[in-house]
Amino acid sequence: MVVGSAVILMRKRSQIARLYSIAVKCGCQRSGIGHLLTNEVSRAATAHGCTEVRLESRIDNVRAHALFRALGYTPFGAPIRDYYADGASAIRFRKQLRPDIATKAAGRNADNSNIDWNQAPPG
Ligand SMILES: CC(C)(COP(=O)(O)OP(=O)(O)OC[C@H]1O[C@@H](n2cnc3c(N)ncnc32)[C@H](O)[C@@H]1OP(=O)(O)O)[C@@H](O)C(=O)NCCC(=O)NCCS
Repeated sequence: MVVGSAVILMRKRSQIARLYSIAVKCGCQRSGIGHLLTNEVSRAATAHGCTEVRLESRIDNVRAHALFRALGYTPFGAPIRDYYADGASAIRFRKQLRPDIATKAAGRNADNSNIDWNQAPPG
């Protein structure tokens, strides 16, 4: 049974990963799965040589914001207006990973390109 999922996007030439979506099945929430998934995102991004994870979250999604903040994400930039289909804004969060570990894990030259993942909102 699938109780949750997280989708992370990474690009070869960017050290910034994007947490595209994360969700835990109703009835399974508030039991630590969101924490586990979010930490796994950091682990996977680090293993692929990323130095930062970014995400966008609906401005009124206080539960998700609490989770992200608890795990070291901080909001940055101005809210993105009209980000979701119903016109709601998004707040952007980011978390720095351990660049020393990330670069080693990538086994390649560090690429400082700074691609902005501000694309379509998660489904
Ligand atoms: C946001 C979301 C992924 C969090 O997942 P979750 O599995 O409920 O997260 P966790 O259980 O790890 O943590 C949530 C809360 O449960 C608490 N918790 C964790 N383990 C617990 C346990 N064993 N017993 C009681 N509470 C617990 C955490 O401390 C946290 O408390 P807080 O909300 O007061 O900060 C989930 O609410 C969800 O799927 N929401 C809908 C989709 C969504 O909004 N996604 C985010 C888009 S940006």
